[in-house]
Amino acid sequence: MKLVVGNQKNYMSLKDVSLFLKDIKLNDNVIICPSNIYIPFYLKRGFKLATQNICENKTITGEITFSQAKSLGINTTILGHSERRSLYETNEIINCKIKEAIENDFKIILCVGETEDEMNEKEIVLKKELEECLKDVTNFENIIIAYEPIWAIGTGKIPSNNDIYESIKYIKDLTNSIYNTEIKVLYGGSVNSENIKEINQIENLDGVLVGKASTNIDEFLKIIEVVNS
Ligand code: PGA
Repeated sequence: MKLVVGNQKNYMSLKDVSLFLKDIKLNDNVIICPSNIYIPFYLKRGFKLATQNICENKTITGEITFSQAKSLGINTTILGHSERRSLYETNEIINCKIKEAIENDFKIILCVGETEDEMNEKEIVLKKELEECLKDVTNFENIIIAYEPIWAIGTGKIPSNNDIYESIKYIKDLTNSIYNTEIKVLYGGSVNSENIKEINQIENLDGVLVGKASTNIDEFLKIIEVVNS
């Protein structure tokens, strides 16, 4: 079954969360990444959750740790989202987090993708991100890649199906040749209820990472329905 991950970022107010949680039932292949402060509300509803980011088990103001997430039964995290990379997170930092995540038995959704200026050298960018983020990693069982072209995030612009197919193929071939592993790859960037039918036709797609459209329950349910059809 394909995966649907809802990255709700810091979009929602408490009222939005209450509306979202009202009557919703979600299948097992759906993972929600709520804003940290709302996690307990989602937990009460028994949803599968992941954190949007995580920090090593050390004292840093404003961060949450693997141990804290684990204490709530959460064992999945997004890492390397471009919005985190734009703050301060380098491939080296993400690599440390991935290794610590593996030690903590966490599942990882690792985001990679090129900027608009890097479109012509997409494969070089993807290769560098993957090689540096996965340096010295030996256990790939719990790693999923999310291919998210940065220019497609929150912009309404998306690559053609063929371009997405080629990028996913590149990521799968590369990880297969270097690490001898069959990795799952999601697509993320402006996925919504209108374009999901087309995106869902991409042959090598293992699921989608949905940002803004995951905060509106009707929109999100439509996306899930198409993916599960
Ligand atoms: P978007 O965000 O769907 O709002 O473009 C995707 C993401 O940032 O993961």
